Amino acid sequence: MNLIKTLTMIPFLFFSLNVSSQNPDFVKMVEYATKAPSGHNTQPWIFKLTDSTIEIHPDFSKALPVVDGHHRELYISLGCALENLCIAANEFGYDAKTSIEVDDNSHSYIIAKLEKSRLQKNYLFDQIVKRQTNRSVYNNKLISSDTIKELERISMEEHIDFQFFDKNTHNFNVLMNLVAEGNTQQLNDKAFKKELLEWIRFNKKQVEATKDGLTYEVMGTPATPGFIGKPIVKSFLKPDKQNKTDMQKINSSSHLVLFTVEHNNPENWINLGRVLERILLETTRLGIANAYLNQPCEVESVAESVQNQLQLGNKKPALLLRIGYANPLPYSPRKEVYEVIE
Ligand SMILES: Cc1cc2nc3c(=O)[nH]c(=O)nc-3n(C[C@H](O)[C@H](O)[C@H](O)COP(=O)(O)O)c2cc1C
Repeated sequence: MNLIKTLTMIPFLFFSLNVSSQNPDFVKMVEYATKAPSGHNTQPWIFKLTDSTIEIHPDFSKALPVVDGHHRELYISLGCALENLCIAANEFGYDAKTSIEVDDNSHSYIIAKLEKSRLQKNYLFDQIVKRQTNRSVYNNKLISSDTIKELERISMEEHIDFQFFDKNTHNFNVLMNLVAEGNTQQLNDKAFKKELLEWIRFNKKQVEATKDGLTYEVMGTPATPGFIGKPIVKSFLKPDKQNKTDMQKINSSSHLVLFTVEHNNPENWINLGRVLERILLETTRLGIANAYLNQPCEVESVAESVQNQLQLGNKKPALLLRIGYANPLPYSPRKEVYEVIE
């Protein structure tokens, strides 16, 4: 074995030694948790395992200070990971009792207490590995009102709400205009573009080295050396170009889905993540594609316009999806489980 191969094996060997003392079911649950979506695919989580608990902590080294200054999307991502973890726990014969705690640095984190039980398995388990964000142009097919009603029956969490908007309705068009307004503000902001470019992986070598970020494949662009790809992508990060493609993508979709919270705090964001993941898994089961258009929730002044123009009262816009029908795309990479267990 050559030296490089031996060196790349070291983290795995450490993990094998470390993991042999861990409950293998818990390790598998963490692996399913990491299949969750996260903003820019930063995978901002650290898992800590004991004999009877799995903790999910925020990894602020993966924070996105420009686009997500308050860590709302970071905590939503942790909520998605928690939902996957609880579904996987049921699959492996455990009941998960969850709570949100605050550490010595005043940062919120999650504890899932696991007990062997004979709970029914969750029908969404098989969808965890199938779910993906699909940024392509969809095929214009509309989702039936019966299917939307089925999605509306998903189990909810306190202080979280979501609403579907049918294509060509007044509020659908309001949201579309506010996506354009969000794009315009973000793409006139150098710091926003710099942060986004740092998370784009332009070729296979970069993907394999980091196992995170937005890959050329999921962005639908060809692989290029970074020094070529970066200026090309940068030249497309202009409000008019982005608005043109986003309007085409929205018009090819069937519905927009707006998620709101009553309070902007980590507990509400984590619970929103849980509900979001349920919707994403359920849409995956129904063969429905999804992608995010978070611009109007990310830019504070635009989020206020969403709240006022849609008359949301005290509900604060936190996340916007488009859904519809499309062919599947390549999957995003994930870190190995040993890289996210402390
Ligand atoms: C809270 C949150 C916010 C996101 N915001 C965006 C977004 O604004 N635009 C986008 O294209 N994708 C967005 N995503 C999707 C992620 O980029 C995606 O989950 C990640 O790249 C991993 O890919 P996957 O979902 O296919 O596994 C978001 C995901 C989450 C959980």
